[in-house]
Amino acid sequence: MQYEPIFLKPMQNHEVLSDLLSNIVTDLVVLPELALSGYVFQNQEEVDSVAESIPDGEIFKDFQALSAKKDMSIVYGFAERALDNYYNSAALINPDGSYAIYRKIQLFYREKLFFSPGDRPYFVSTAKSEVKIGMMICFDWQFPEAARSLALQGAQIITHPSNLVLPWCQEAMRTRSLENHVFSITSNRIGTEQNGNFSHTFTGQSQILGTKGEILIRMNDTETGIYTVEIDAALANDKSITEFNNAFQDRRPDMYKLI
Ligand code: ACM
Repeated sequence: MQYEPIFLKPMQNHEVLSDLLSNIVTDLVVLPELALSGYVFQNQEEVDSVAESIPDGEIFKDFQALSAKKDMSIVYGFAERALDNYYNSAALINPDGSYAIYRKIQLFYREKLFFSPGDRPYFVSTAKSEVKIGMMICFDWQFPEAARSLALQGAQIITHPSNLVLPWCQEAMRTRSLENHVFSITSNRIGTEQNGNFSHTFTGQSQILGTKGEILIRMNDTETGIYTVEIDAALANDKSITEFNNAFQDRRPDMYKLI
């Protein structure tokens, strides 16, 4: 799913998103990072004005109802308030009412002024039809450990809400998918957002990738909408490369220096 949110207008954005989502039939849909609020914050008050707590947030509860009604899992990015902290988070909501919250671990640029870095390691959740979902957000793409951690824990699909501004992610994600033999869904936003002296232009090109890094769908950098593809998530369980090679069994962690 790709669109341009209106900055600091979560209720208006929620209405647009709800309309778009009511018209589709799918098992899983992925929305952008900070999908309800926009991105270019100038101060903490702006973040506070759009942040929601879980599970009491109004929009979160509305998405829970929509997920049940439409019988689809929903992943979306939002500003989370938790006690005195704010996180750039993603929620997975399932039709049975279960949910999981991922708090962005690798904060980008001025996000560091307004959000705390995620305080829980990468984890895998179960979505509709027992599909294994790993969540990461936007700039997490830069760190191969993120996708690897999710894949090693059994993720079949990496869901990747994004507000991308650098030009490399969409191609880099082909490698993330290929090296881990997982599907990935990057939902990016579009448009230029200006707030005072700060401005970002977002790169669109939301995409769904197969387990060999092949592009199953890639949108352009201006269109709004939702595309679906049908996949067999179980293909991600097969990590074989040749009859002698396996992407996971051939790993040599004792030879790696990661800390
Ligand atoms: C980003 O992490 N939103 C670039």
